[in-house]
Amino acid sequence: MLVADRLQSLQPSLTISLNARAQELRAQGIDVTSLAIGEPDFPTPAHIREAAKNAIDANFTRYTAAPGIPELRKAVGGYFERQYGVPVPPESVIVSAGAKHAVFNLAQGLLNPGDEAIIPAPYWLSYPPIVELAGGRAVTILAGADRGFKITPDMLEARRSSKTRLLVLNSPSNPTGVVYTQTELDALVNWAISHKIFVLSDEIYDQLVFDPAKAASAIGWFARYPDLVAVLNGVSKTFAMTGWRVGWLVGHPDLIKKLSALQGQSTSGICSIAQKAALAALTGPMDCVADMRGAFQRRRDAAMKIINSWPLAVCPQPDGAFYLFVDVRRSYAGSIKNSTDMCAHLLDKALVSVVPGAAFGDDNCFRLSYAVADDALKAALQRVGEELAKLAGK
Ligand SMILES: Cc1ncc(COP(=O)(O)O)c(C=O)c1O
Repeated sequence: MLVADRLQSLQPSLTISLNARAQELRAQGIDVTSLAIGEPDFPTPAHIREAAKNAIDANFTRYTAAPGIPELRKAVGGYFERQYGVPVPPESVIVSAGAKHAVFNLAQGLLNPGDEAIIPAPYWLSYPPIVELAGGRAVTILAGADRGFKITPDMLEARRSSKTRLLVLNSPSNPTGVVYTQTELDALVNWAISHKIFVLSDEIYDQLVFDPAKAASAIGWFARYPDLVAVLNGVSKTFAMTGWRVGWLVGHPDLIKKLSALQGQSTSGICSIAQKAALAALTGPMDCVADMRGAFQRRRDAAMKIINSWPLAVCPQPDGAFYLFVDVRRSYAGSIKNSTDMCAHLLDKALVSVVPGAAFGDDNCFRLSYAVADDALKAALQRVGEELAKLAGK
């Protein structure tokens, strides 16, 4: 089958294929616990579902404006004003089919062939292929567990070239859960801006930050340097709405116009009903979010307690998202040579599915998600611990 050159090396998302493998085993009657999931396990809150039903009944079922319905773009602006005290005008907002689609559009809109995008690792696994599909080159820099998974301006500077066009930041991070302080984030953005490098700040987990830590945002930088900063967010993680496919990008109005044209020629804007649901999410009560955040924090604490007893494993305690990124390199021996072997071993022996760190640019680790029920989580982590103990000869 003849396919275009740009798709030759494109691989399906590894998290999706691993999930499928766990489901396959389950279909054979094997009781596998999947900790490979990248989405909240809670239902979408009732008032949001209700808004979608109302939109259908009101026949709000036609094409909408390509960058999103005006009231949703306005509500996104309102979110930044409420959360971070930075007003964002609607013309600086484009609503896309999930934050992933917004990143895709931005890469298409920003990168010329050969442009380099610096992507700190461990990274969300979709950044490099999205950059490469736009003709760019992904330049990854690893800050491993020994550095608390945090990059510094010096590390960025070491990889800067005349072709560096974009820096991708993500806090709280998928896969590590690490949250940069505002001071740390500021230093990274400041470095980029001083070299006229465009910053994409992916803040999709900003509502999932645990006390006493605080979410950092680049939105203040956007207000000062709108032509060099874009901020990404969406409803998927905050409101347990991954399937609704609503995300957004805040950027310079001229850039947003161009991305709207791109969207107009590709998807014609997103589902009208999902937009009404997202509007209800952004303008409605936030106690549902606080409840979910509380549950994630409880699970993070319970999981850390167990993981701290695992032999030869290192896991800096993260302050956000719903992932833990565990460094198990000291358990690599014999037939287990890397993170993929380790994950296959744990699936086979502990019946727990986790994601190889290689997928996120750090082969020393695996990622586990604690977006699963408390009891199932604890039991699964105990089983992984027993396997790691066996590997350590204990
Ligand atoms: C860091 C990060 N950014 C963006 C996304 C995309 O979210 P969505 O496309 O569901 O809005 C994800 C989803 O896993 C993510 O982890």
